[in-house]
Amino acid sequence: MTRRSVLIGTGSALPKRAVSNAELAETVDTSDEWIVERSGIRQRHVAGEGETTSTLAIAAARAALEAAGVDGTDIGLIVLATTTPDQTFPATATIVQDAIGANGGIAFDVAAVCSGFLYALGVADSMLRAGMASRALVIGAETMTRLLDWEDRTTCVLFGDGAGAVVLEARDVAGDGPGVLATHLHADGAHNELLYVDGGPSTTQTVGHLRMKGREVFRHAVVNLADVLGNVLAEVGLTSADVDWVVPHQANQRILDATAKKLGLPPEKVVVTVDRHANTSAASVPLALDVATRDGRIKPGDLIVLEAMGGGFTWGASLIRV
Ligand code: UT7
Repeated sequence: MTRRSVLIGTGSALPKRAVSNAELAETVDTSDEWIVERSGIRQRHVAGEGETTSTLAIAAARAALEAAGVDGTDIGLIVLATTTPDQTFPATATIVQDAIGANGGIAFDVAAVCSGFLYALGVADSMLRAGMASRALVIGAETMTRLLDWEDRTTCVLFGDGAGAVVLEARDVAGDGPGVLATHLHADGAHNELLYVDGGPSTTQTVGHLRMKGREVFRHAVVNLADVLGNVLAEVGLTSADVDWVVPHQANQRILDATAKKLGLPPEKVVVTVDRHANTSAASVPLALDVATRDGRIKPGDLIVLEAMGGGFTWGASLIRV
């Protein structure tokens, strides 16, 4: 028997308002045609009054707890990935903790931008296997639209808001049983200037706006994602042929296609939500995971691989038997 973190529930939440490309094109110098052709995005959800990273995270967490059949009081660890916390401090994870009644356990945020959920999952999995808690909530939650410069058409059409969450439970399982099988995480700080925010508490004392050199990021994304996917599979002696579903970070349909092609993965095995969610940064992987779990595509026993790449650069992949 092996101690593993087993995925026992997923949940997600989106802001009420969906904004189509056509609606965006009324105020931004862009078109539905350009956005769809270059990114695959057709709409994004945008947080309105009263909707924040924590309100979305709490809704996603409650949905995941319900799916798992456990109470907030059963959760000893909350790791929340976000680039857009409600406040610089306290950690948004502590706001979620109080809302679900998990007070007294461990709760903190991690910052790895679009790879944040993979980093949060890796940390939570390690802590569960080390015995620091027996059940964890891992959340990716963002209000990325609040970091956007709406005058910059090269970035403002690409992002959206939302949250996704999973409940993990530490269990002793057989070798071919369920759980997180392997997680690989990477960062390379040499590429900070390709994707960053031009502000922060210690520099400008403002939040700043997201800046991106899209074409360069695109190139790095395909190479890094194909590498990390290949490596995480190799670690456990599997190949892309063994994978039932890829649940990727949803930045661009063309990145999803190019990465799948590089690995010889058929497009039918790739979960795609970028058309309706756009890029929700750390929320995108758990949002897509919840969609494909609730619509019945991902079933118990399936081998799934999560992957993401984002600012830093940071990137990673996690292989999970459901
Ligand atoms: O989540 C973190 C990871 N992020 C990513 O993975 C994003 C990676 N990058 C991308 O997804 C793509 O590079 C973009 C979708 C951002 C851009 O697509 P692209 O095919 O690389 O376009 P481009 O940046 O090379 O721009 C092509 C043209 C430019 O015009 P010129 O210079 O060729 O005349 C842009 O000015 O498209 C123009 N353009 C736009 N036109 C209409 C840029 N943004 C827009 C826009 N509407 N919103």
